[in-house]
Amino acid sequence: MDRIEIKPGVFWVGGIDWTLRDFHGYKTQRGSTYNAYLIMDEKITLVDTVKHYLYDEMVARISAVVDPSKIDLIISNHVEMDHTGSIPKLLKLCPNAKIVTSSQGKQGIVRHYKEEWDFQVVKTGDTLNIGKRTLHFVTIPMVHWPDSMVTCIPEDKLLLPNDAFGQHIASSERYDDEIGWDIVKEEAAKYYANIVLPFGMQVKKALEVVGALDVDMIGPSHGVIWRSHIPQIIAEYGKWASHQTEDKALIVYDTMWGSTKIMADKLKEGLLESGMHVSMRSLKDSDISDVMTDVLTSKLVLIGSPTLNNGMLPTMGAFLTYLKGLWPRDRVGLAFGSYGWGGQAVGQVEEVMKEMGWETPLGNVRLKYIPDPEELEEIRLKGKELGELVIKRS
Ligand code: FEO
Repeated sequence: MDRIEIKPGVFWVGGIDWTLRDFHGYKTQRGSTYNAYLIMDEKITLVDTVKHYLYDEMVARISAVVDPSKIDLIISNHVEMDHTGSIPKLLKLCPNAKIVTSSQGKQGIVRHYKEEWDFQVVKTGDTLNIGKRTLHFVTIPMVHWPDSMVTCIPEDKLLLPNDAFGQHIASSERYDDEIGWDIVKEEAAKYYANIVLPFGMQVKKALEVVGALDVDMIGPSHGVIWRSHIPQIIAEYGKWASHQTEDKALIVYDTMWGSTKIMADKLKEGLLESGMHVSMRSLKDSDISDVMTDVLTSKLVLIGSPTLNNGMLPTMGAFLTYLKGLWPRDRVGLAFGSYGWGGQAVGQVEEVMKEMGWETPLGNVRLKYIPDPEELEEIRLKGKELGELVIKRS
């Protein structure tokens, strides 16, 4: 196994999940990695581990540097099992190792693994000397779980923030510049939209902390290590955490006999005439985690479903459940759809928008069975009016 030294005496010893395509409901078309970092100092220190089924790979990488039984400290920045899943087995190799984690981290690890191991609890501002280095800890609750914290190694100008700044990418490359900004940014945006989006306030606090640190490398727990685009990814996180959007309209819809799709196309025409950038997603062939990446940067979100029985199509129900959980703020919405009788779906979609605090300045658009030319013209004009309204405000 190759030794991957990211700083003198600091090694990447993670696992690459090449074929992962589903991460608790999030489609990971590029796979993922679980990044662990080994610090060779007077106290040999491992920061985070890997999912349980990549334990052998992690141990092989550690063994290429040092006998794993010599590990003195395991820093656990985050309890979720993609990062702690190998701790129980690893502790059988290094039974004297101490686990350093936050207070919530200790509680979480005990709840997960039902073991009272040797813990050292740390909080924001605490430091831990391991020889030539002194590790600094800062808790960043809810980025991604209540227990989350970052470990900073000032001597190496290295920040290990666990889930923050992560991307689900499996690759033989380890650094952002080896993959390219466009791909890494796209995956970082998808990751933010699907994992971090509900926690904007907490991300802002975390960014204040990160901004005050003198680092030239950020090693997240997923994907590639940032060394060339640190100011750019911090700037993107700042925008995302503030729910800043662009003059973009996203049309998300599903259709039964084609009328709601015709309405979506007409709205698109009007929006394009207004000068908006438009993207369209049919829930028949788009995964909701990809739709969320578009939601992240779109000021205007139009959501369409026909009425089936007394409600919306099940695909739309699933999407709205997911969307509400992630709760993007400060959007302008428009609900639309066709119906045969009853026609409850559009009102239900609009209700969800209002629950999220979205504006719906033009109400909604519903029509019976098949749209006629006059109705289509009205829909086109509504799309144009909505686009112009959003552009005028920006
Ligand atoms: Fe990568 Fe919240 O775990």
